Amino acid sequence: MSDILEQQQAYYCARSAEYDQWWERQGRYDQGTERNQQWQIEGQLVRDTLHQLPAQNHILELACGTGIWTKELVKLGQSITAVDASAEMLAINQAKVQSDHVTYIQADLFTWQSEQQFDMIFFGFWLSHVPSNKLQAFLQGVSQMLKPNGYLFMIDSQRNQMATAKNQNMLDESPIHTRILNDGREFQIIKVFYDRDGLQSELAQVNIDADVRLTNEFFIYAHGQKVIRS
Ligand SMILES: C[S@@+](CC[C@H](N)C(=O)[O-])C[C@H]1O[C@@H](n2cnc3c(N)ncnc32)[C@H](O)[C@@H]1O
Repeated sequence: MSDILEQQQAYYCARSAEYDQWWERQGRYDQGTERNQQWQIEGQLVRDTLHQLPAQNHILELACGTGIWTKELVKLGQSITAVDASAEMLAINQAKVQSDHVTYIQADLFTWQSEQQFDMIFFGFWLSHVPSNKLQAFLQGVSQMLKPNGYLFMIDSQRNQMATAKNQNMLDESPIHTRILNDGREFQIIKVFYDRDGLQSELAQVNIDADVRLTNEFFIYAHGQKVIRS
C-alpha cells in the first residue's frame, strides 16, 4: 500500500473520537449559525432523498465510519454489511447504531471485494479519498457487487473552505491535503473533488446510470441503478 493511503487510514483511526464534530459543526468546524444551518439543511435534503428510495433487502455500506449514514441505512434495509478499515471507527459505529441488522467487516477497500451481490451500495465521503489512478478499479468493484438494477447512493464534499476546519489549509487543486487533528498532529490524505458531469461519466463507465446533484454549497450526491447494457 502506498504511504499516503497508509497515512489516510491512520488519520481516520486517530480522528475517530473527534470525527462527528465535523458533521455536527462543532469546535473547529463551527462556521457560525448561518453556515451551520445551511449545512444542516443540505444534509437533511440528502437524507430525505435517500429515504425516497424503495425499501431494500441487503445494503452494503463502504467506509461506514462512525455511523452517521449507517443509522439512516438501518431504516431503509433489512440487513446492512458495513465495511471500514478502522477498528476505532467500527467500534463507535456499533455503539451508536446498536442494531442486530448490521454486520461489520474490518477491511481495506483497496483490496476487499465481496463475492456476494447486494441490492444497494452506499458510500458517504469516501469516493473523494480514492486516488484518481484507483478510481475506475474501485468503481468496477462496486458495480460487480451490485445486483442488476441494484441501487447506488453516494454523498461527498464540494470544494468549499467553509466545510472544513477553521485551521485547515486552503483547499487548492492538489489531491493531496494536509489534515490537522484537535491535538495538532498532521497527516497527508487524498481528497479529490468531483463535478456533476465528471462523476456521472465515471459512474456510467461502470454501468451505473446515476442522477448526480449538487446542494447549494456543500455536498455532491448521486443516486442511480446498475443497468445491464446489451
Ligand atoms: C471521511 S470518512 C467517511 C465516514 C462515513 N462514511 C461518513 O460519511 O461519515 C472516511 C472513512 O474511510 C475509512 N477508510 C480510510 N481508508 C480506508 C481504506 N483503505 N479501506 C477502508 N476504509 C478506509 C476511514 O476509517 C473512515 O471511516
